[in-house]
Amino acid sequence: MKKKVLLMGASGSGKTSMRSLIFSNNPASSTARLGATIDVEQNHVRFLGDLILNLWDCGGQDAFMDSYLTTQRSTIFQHVGVMIYVFDAETGQMNKDLEYYRDCLDGLTHYSPEAAVFLLVHKMDLVQEPKTTMFEKKREVLQKATGDVTITVFGTSIYDESLYRAWSSIVHTLIPNAAVLNKHLNIVAAACSATEVILFERTTFLVIATSTSSTSSPFSSSTSSSTSISSPTYTSSSPSASDPHQMHPKRYERTSELIKAFKWSCSRVREEFHSLEMDMYDFTAVLDEMTRNTYVMVVVHDPTIETAAIKLNIRMARKKFE
Ligand code: GTP
Repeated sequence: MKKKVLLMGASGSGKTSMRSLIFSNNPASSTARLGATIDVEQNHVRFLGDLILNLWDCGGQDAFMDSYLTTQRSTIFQHVGVMIYVFDAETGQMNKDLEYYRDCLDGLTHYSPEAAVFLLVHKMDLVQEPKTTMFEKKREVLQKATGDVTITVFGTSIYDESLYRAWSSIVHTLIPNAAVLNKHLNIVAAACSATEVILFERTTFLVIATSTSSTSSPFSSSTSSSTSISSPTYTSSSPSASDPHQMHPKRYERTSELIKAFKWSCSRVREEFHSLEMDMYDFTAVLDEMTRNTYVMVVVHDPTIETAAIKLNIRMARKKFE
């Protein structure tokens, strides 16, 4: 099953950089060397089992944008599963960006009316004024420019975990059996007496499913009304008072970011990353391969549960996830 993902936005807004971080495991520092994308760069990424993401990174220079909106219009906008439109948070050309965005949205609603639309206010690390205030202002402007189409807006940066939250949410909309995965994870969690079980995609380390449906889940802001805005990652978030283990709301995207960085360090010394065990004073976490395409993380707060038992349960559960 192939799903087309359009990555659009002005030149220099950061599209190829985020693709390089998420899908090629490159560090943020390496993106400064990236040249402008010429026309469209297409990539096929085998994501989960049969699911292949067909990523169209559309170069954002004006001449290319004009061509997408005229001669290439049907080629670009047909059969789209998701359009991700990237706005540079600090752009000096917001009006022009919005004009192109509206034209792209027109093309999308004409050729792929069912497509999901994600808007990323990117390079949030560069924003000086209170980030939440700025994000809210941008969100309002974007909603106004969008009209009735359902959108989800994220504030992102390649220099922190916010990018992982946004992309986890994006790919989640493309996974056909997400609810089934969630059910299986609940069973694993019960078998391990785990507080939480999380399933990650192997290459990108994006979160695919979690056993809990807490508000901190990257999927908790699924679109239901005409606008659905994710709680911006730039608001100050602290552990929920109702959570006895005080688990951090950003734990999913932080884990993705840290494991990706660790994998990169492993590759630098020509080692391969296989699994990870952490025995902390109040919890144990085991990260292990689940299937060819996934990793699972089991978090247990019960000190009587042995790590070996968790690993055995993961092994026993593998068949269900294949
Ligand atoms: P085109 O290919 O011309 O459409 O541009 P693009 O949107 O692909 O931009 P690209 O990814 O090449 O990024 C342009 C510059 O922005 C690079 O120097 C990146 O290092 C920088 N950049 C990307 N993301 C971020 C971010 O989150 N924060 C900051 N500060 N810089 C970023």
